[in-house]
Amino acid sequence: MLTMDDIVREGHPALREKSVEVDLPPTDEELAMAKKMLEFLKNSQDDETAERCNLRPGVGLAAPQLGINKRIMTVHFEDANETLYSYAIFNPKIISHSVEKAYLEGGEGCLSVDRPVEGYVPRHARITVRGTDLEGNPLKLRLRNYAAIVFQHEIDHLDGIMFYDHIDEKNPFFIPDNAKAI
Ligand code: NI
Repeated sequence: MLTMDDIVREGHPALREKSVEVDLPPTDEELAMAKKMLEFLKNSQDDETAERCNLRPGVGLAAPQLGINKRIMTVHFEDANETLYSYAIFNPKIISHSVEKAYLEGGEGCLSVDRPVEGYVPRHARITVRGTDLEGNPLKLRLRNYAAIVFQHEIDHLDGIMFYDHIDEKNPFFIPDNAKAI
C-alpha cells in the first residue's frame, strides 16, 4: 500500500511539470497505480488505518504527487448532500465551466504541502469533466461547489499548478467578483 513516504512534497520537480496523457487502454502498471492511489485515499480516511500507518487524510491524489507525470487522478469524498465521489480517472479534462466562482472558506490543503497556507482559492463553481474510468469506460461528470473544487485541485496537479498559485499574493483573502463561499 502507498504511505506518506510515497508522496513527493513541495520542491519536487514533478509537482511543477505538465503531465502527459495516458495512452489508452492503460497498461497494467498504470491501472495498478490508479487503484493504489484510490486505496490510499480510502485508507487515509479510515481512522484506524490512518493512525497505524501515519496517513494524513486526503480527498484527492494525482499521479505527479507520486513523482509520476502522467494524467491520472483519484478522488474519494462525500459532498454536503452525502453523494459519494470515488473515482480513478485517466486523462481528466474540464470541457466546460461556469463563470461563477467558488472558494472554500477554510482554504485548501494538499498532501504534498506540509504547512498551512492561508487564503482563498477561487475556482469555477461548476465544471463538466470528461475522462476514462478504471474499467475503460468514458466518464462525464457534472460537478458543483465542493466536488468541483476538489476535481479542479487535482486536475491542476496534472498541469504543474499548486493550489496556492491561485491565492492573491497581496490580499490572500480577496474575494473576486461573482465568487461564493463554500
Ligand atoms: Ni494537492
